[in-house]
Amino acid sequence: MSARIYRSIHDLQGFSLKNCPPMPQPSGVLMCAPDHYQVLAVKNPYMSGHVGTVDHAKARRQWEALREAFDAAGCPVSLIDPAPGLEDMVFCANSSLAGTRPDGEKVALLSSMRHPSRRREVASFERWYGEHGYRVLKLKAGGHATFEGSGDAVWHPGKRLIWGGFGFRSDPEIYEQVAKAFHAPVVLLKLVNERFYHLDTCFCPLTPEAVLIHPAAFDAASLELILKIFPIVVTATEHDAVGKMACNAAVVNSRTAILQKGATTVSNHMHALGLGVCEVDTSEFIKSGGSAYCMKQYLFG
Ligand code: ARG
Repeated sequence: MSARIYRSIHDLQGFSLKNCPPMPQPSGVLMCAPDHYQVLAVKNPYMSGHVGTVDHAKARRQWEALREAFDAAGCPVSLIDPAPGLEDMVFCANSSLAGTRPDGEKVALLSSMRHPSRRREVASFERWYGEHGYRVLKLKAGGHATFEGSGDAVWHPGKRLIWGGFGFRSDPEIYEQVAKAFHAPVVLLKLVNERFYHLDTCFCPLTPEAVLIHPAAFDAASLELILKIFPIVVTATEHDAVGKMACNAAVVNSRTAILQKGATTVSNHMHALGLGVCEVDTSEFIKSGGSAYCMKQYLFG
């Protein structure tokens, strides 16, 4: 099952989460300071009405508090230098997907971004991974398919299994290459609602058994897959999912969830599942369509 693609529950015969080999939890996160962060052009529905409205001092304070929240949760933070002219580089999740292979080798698969304004970010990450002992892989040249890294490709906590979103920023065909890069099977999930343009806006594994989702983001076949594989599925209300980007929570070691403040129903679910909840304010970044999860890249190994 090492590099299989699961597209519907009919593909799941013989599949069991228990049989997925273990995968270490992330060893830390990579973040990029918001020195050049701006909302310049509308690339997703969150951005409309916010062009030119970023309060830079406030964004910096919010970013520092998020960085401290990762530290306090026991998750070491590494930094990549912000590059001038790359207004979205603060959203570190998107330009790559990092992980380990079964033999422990650290791998980073570079993204192929949908928007030209974000394509230059990838070279900075390529350099960073090269300097930090990763095998750096690129998607096959020549294709038009796009892939937005851990914005759409999400590791199952503690398991050698990847959840792959597609529909707006990533194309389904690239997941064959994702599966081969990490020697891990991929479960494909189709996003059907533009508000939830990345998988990380509507799907957040909390523990190996429990996931938080916003159901209206998915087609029926994808919901079936989620319900079949996760024993516990909790949902975010529209208020929390859209207004607070609550599914964009960053969960550290299946123990502490770092998320936008004010997502009351979601934080109640998290408490009920035994997670610690750390509320932060990412309002300046929600103007661009991102919150705690996508402001970092999980690192492994
Ligand atoms: N403005 C950025 C974009 O539209 C936000 C990306 C947020 N990332 C995420 N994974 N949700 O590309």
